[in-house]
Amino acid sequence: MTSLAAPLYEALCAYVDKSPVGFHTPGHTGGRAYPLSSLWTLDLTELFLGPTGPYLPSVVTEAERLAAEAFGAGRSFFLTNGASIGVLAMVLGSAPPGGTIFIGRDCHRAVVHACILGDLRPVFLPPLFADGWEFPMGVALSELKKVFCRKDLILVTNPTYQGIVQDLKSIGEPEGVFLVDEAHGTHLALLENYAGAGVAGARAWVHGSHKTLGSLTQTGMLHLRRGVEEEPYLTWLERLGTTSPSYPLLASLDLARRWAVPQGREAWTRHAERMALLRRRLRALGWRVLTEEGLPFSAALDPAKLTVAVPAGGATLARKLLEDYGLQAEAVGPDWSVFLLTPFHTEEEIARLCKALADLVPLAVQGGSSPPVWPRRWPERVLWPREAALGPRRRVPLAEAEGLVAAEPLSPYPPGIPLVWPGEIIDQASYTYLLAFYRAGGHISGLDAAGRVAVVAI
Ligand SMILES: Cc1ncc(COP(=O)(O)O)c(C=O)c1O
Repeated sequence: MTSLAAPLYEALCAYVDKSPVGFHTPGHTGGRAYPLSSLWTLDLTELFLGPTGPYLPSVVTEAERLAAEAFGAGRSFFLTNGASIGVLAMVLGSAPPGGTIFIGRDCHRAVVHACILGDLRPVFLPPLFADGWEFPMGVALSELKKVFCRKDLILVTNPTYQGIVQDLKSIGEPEGVFLVDEAHGTHLALLENYAGAGVAGARAWVHGSHKTLGSLTQTGMLHLRRGVEEEPYLTWLERLGTTSPSYPLLASLDLARRWAVPQGREAWTRHAERMALLRRRLRALGWRVLTEEGLPFSAALDPAKLTVAVPAGGATLARKLLEDYGLQAEAVGPDWSVFLLTPFHTEEEIARLCKALADLVPLAVQGGSSPPVWPRRWPERVLWPREAALGPRRRVPLAEAEGLVAAEPLSPYPPGIPLVWPGEIIDQASYTYLLAFYRAGGHISGLDAAGRVAVVAI
């Protein structure tokens, strides 16, 4: 099969073209439960395609093989439970139980859950910060280099949610097992001037393909370097995953991969140019935009992200954009907003965003109250994550949680970077940030509906 084929998608279409009556899961039977659309009719799982057709799982394997080829991996797995399940399987498949893992502290909360399940002992690598931006910006390459000479397990997140891309390739080959959460960077492998994790010596890396590659929500890929034994990863995916993976989700990955090479390469290259132009335009209008030149360290900017400072409050900007211009931002923080832009956006849509931001320049300069300060140091640990998460616990209101030991990660959302890990004391700096964020209407994963935190019961 050539890279022009999309075997899974084609097999699925050929099957539904025959309009079989379905006596199987899912219960909506080809969409009759709801208004019909092609999505509902494609909603199938675990089926034979017919007496002479291939058994679908083998088509999935073929689609995954083509994805591995496209993304420079030895083996790729399609994921239907987001990049999250990929991160879990990647860590658990790489780590001996009770083992040590070096982790960029700005990791996603899925990494915490992997440490809980595998009883892993995290050692943190400090993230970078830049004046005027209250969010972490990835681990310094110099810090990473220090651990690259150890035969240890190391995990970093690259690119960051707000669009910082570190050149991981520039620090050479790691001695140990290097894992990259590349959830936000599926497209990096398609761009000439960026090195995806696959060429930066990673043993395994995860793509949140639904974020920038256009596949359906919840889809992602776990990639293994050539020569890496697939068994532990496959086993963890089977343990953690559903037994009824959605074929529309998997087929959307097949289509996204077919588009990625070579069209995606050209499209992303052109898109990177228009993003550079957009950033320049917005700066000229008076917006403070996250750019390479404004960083106190060397890094590149992700062409999928536009991050602007909003002293008047990211939420205020997002609300105005939605209500007055019909434009929805990706996410907001206390004093920033981030926008996700891909080659699938039209010139007209980008021009609309630019025009709206031109109208809203007063929000770029108008002062608001000082944003909460993201703690530069992480809290003291008194228990390992698993002990804290699986031991006795109680719930207390966030406002009463200072000084207590967290039983779950506490992560301002999005993007879900835990400020406090289970087993750590909710210290003053973290408490202050979390409370300010919460009182300003921000969502914190780890709080229940009543705003209470799970803490270790002593
Ligand atoms: C760095 C990082 N890794 C993993 C994930 C999990 O992705 P998903 O929502 O696809 O499970 C996220 C979510 O935004 C993320 O920011």
